[in-house]
Amino acid sequence: MKILSIESSCDETAAAVTDGRRVLSNIVATQIAEHRIYGGVVPEIASRRHTEAISTVCSEALKAAGIGYGDIDAIAVTFAPGLIGALLVGVNFSKGLAMSLKVPLIPVHHLRSHIAANYIDNAELEPPFLCLLVSGGNTVIAEVSDYTKFKIIGGTLDDAAGECMDKAARALGLQYPGGVMLDKIATEPDEKKYPLPYPHSGSGEFDFSFSGLKTAVVNLVHNAQQRGEALDVPVIAATVRKRVCDMLIDKTLRAAEKYGYKTIAVAGGVSANSELRRRLKCECKNRGLKLYYPELKYCGDNAAMVGVQAYYEYADGNTASPSLNANATMPIDYR
Ligand code: KG4
Repeated sequence: MKILSIESSCDETAAAVTDGRRVLSNIVATQIAEHRIYGGVVPEIASRRHTEAISTVCSEALKAAGIGYGDIDAIAVTFAPGLIGALLVGVNFSKGLAMSLKVPLIPVHHLRSHIAANYIDNAELEPPFLCLLVSGGNTVIAEVSDYTKFKIIGGTLDDAAGECMDKAARALGLQYPGGVMLDKIATEPDEKKYPLPYPHSGSGEFDFSFSGLKTAVVNLVHNAQQRGEALDVPVIAATVRKRVCDMLIDKTLRAAEKYGYKTIAVAGGVSANSELRRRLKCECKNRGLKLYYPELKYCGDNAAMVGVQAYYEYADGNTASPSLNANATMPIDYR
């Protein structure tokens, strides 16, 4: 079943052709360079750029797969969650395409597709498993009991891990997307020199809180500026990264133990973080757990992961009518 999938939830306009878990093409037009000027994504600009790019990106995806619109069996689209104006571009384009081609339209939840990125290069991975989903807008630990059945057992009470690293990086004067830069320049942490806090996460056993850490870095930078002191940015970057990874790894491993999972997957943009990958790999090996994460090119937003999840959504009878709307927020277990 050949699916043309479309992703426009944030600042990448992406289209892909997939067949089951096989990726036949994967095209991503990123807007990062433009948003960098503003230090973060400007929603209005994102929507306009999606509108300009979407048709070309789809044509390129078909061309790269060596097929035409007539060979497509279904259209899949990210419909939630994300920037509402950005999502609407993809949703409306997909509705028009599905109607004109007379093929089914498959709505795909963005976080589900991030999890599905793990299926692309890991042929043996199948539910049930535990997933740590870490992106710029979301941080959750979810049970993946089947391809379309999810249960959240913990999540962030405030900022996402990616948001925390992005904003800490911005305060440190690093370019957008800050999390990527922070990971690149980080050297060795020094917790004595920069005693950053472990934010409390309330009563939820598997919940996170990252806003306190973000604020601590912002305050650290302001205080240093007022005193005219120089900061060791690569060391602070490494200390922030360590704090975030400590929290993510600790809760994920404890959740796996409590709920009896032997397989863990990591997903979302922050799954590209080098320390998170290295330390989780080591911890899982020591505990006899199987660990999966997507190839780097499938960690960030892309449409290949949307197509792979769409295959399972379609098998579960999840198709949309022409009245499909976009949603800025929606829980992963919505259906
Ligand atoms: O999944 P994603 O591409 O978009 C969302 O759906 O949010 O995630 C983007 C997030 C950004 O916060 C970005 O800074 C972060 O992923 N990110 C990283 C790394 N690569 C991307 N954070 C830390 N280390 C990285 N290597």
